[in-house]
Amino acid sequence: MPILDKIKEKLHLQKDSTKDSTKDTTKEPAQESATTAATAAPAGPVFDQSKVDVIFVLGGPGAGKGTQCAKIVQDFDFAHLSAGDLLRAEQAREGSPYGELIRTHIREGRIVPMEVTVKLLENAMAAIIAENRTANGWGDGRGRFLVDGFPREMDQGLKFENEVCVSRFVLFFTCTEEVMLDRLLERGKTSGREDDNAESIKKRFRTYQEVTMPVIEHYRKQDKVREVDATSSVEEVHAKVKETLEPLFGLKKD
Ligand code: ADP
Ligand code: C5P
Ligand code: MG
Repeated sequence: MPILDKIKEKLHLQKDSTKDSTKDTTKEPAQESATTAATAAPAGPVFDQSKVDVIFVLGGPGAGKGTQCAKIVQDFDFAHLSAGDLLRAEQAREGSPYGELIRTHIREGRIVPMEVTVKLLENAMAAIIAENRTANGWGDGRGRFLVDGFPREMDQGLKFENEVCVSRFVLFFTCTEEVMLDRLLERGKTSGREDDNAESIKKRFRTYQEVTMPVIEHYRKQDKVREVDATSSVEEVHAKVKETLEPLFGLKKD
């Protein structure tokens, strides 16, 4: 069973949120959690960066992040978590209080309130680590994650690194808007995604420029960005990614 399906089966974002019929589900989670933050201040990241490797994977919409992550997991012992896929799964989950919120944000190319996305990622990482994989050194609370399409805005990144896990670096795929537009319109013929249309794509490009590029600049200043040109073929891009990752992580043994 694919990992995402397992997570959907096992985990809910907020287990008892559906029980409270008085809850105002139109209120953004950011507002809700602000009221509980004082009593539940986190004591630091949940996962220890000496045991858990996190690579943030960024690039514009259609740059090929998902495609390259799928290739990376064939060669390297990483689990691939796409923030967008997790959000779409939560949107589709029966009883989710966030379904409509996620749908409208995705369609409009806006960033979903970070509490939702960070929690989904944390839950997914915990579930995978709890499976206690042993191949190539996993087990004993260890894990390796490609966190695809995240952080899309600076606060997401800060919250994740403060509360979930400090990242190793950002794998950044560069691509022109012209190429990305062609790829997304082509993908839109079969993806069934509500945001793979010209109008949504325009909004997503804008969000990317205005909100996500500052994230890249932030990590660049910390010398934490590994950049790969993603305009060439899937195989050519993958070859460059492999050159970047192999010295750090070694190829999978099986
Ligand atoms: P992202 O996750 O960055 O939005 P995807 O990996 O879903 O992008 O790729 C977007 C579309 O472009 C998909 O249909 C994919 O098959 C295609 N694609 C990805 N990488 C390349 C590439 N290097 N050359 C041509 N098409 C690509
Ligand atoms: O990465 P992907 O293209 O699948 O993301 C689709 C949409 O999901 C984004 O345009 C955005 O609305 C939402 N998203 C988000 N925060 C993330 C990743 C995705 O709000 N970190
Ligand atoms: Mg993707």
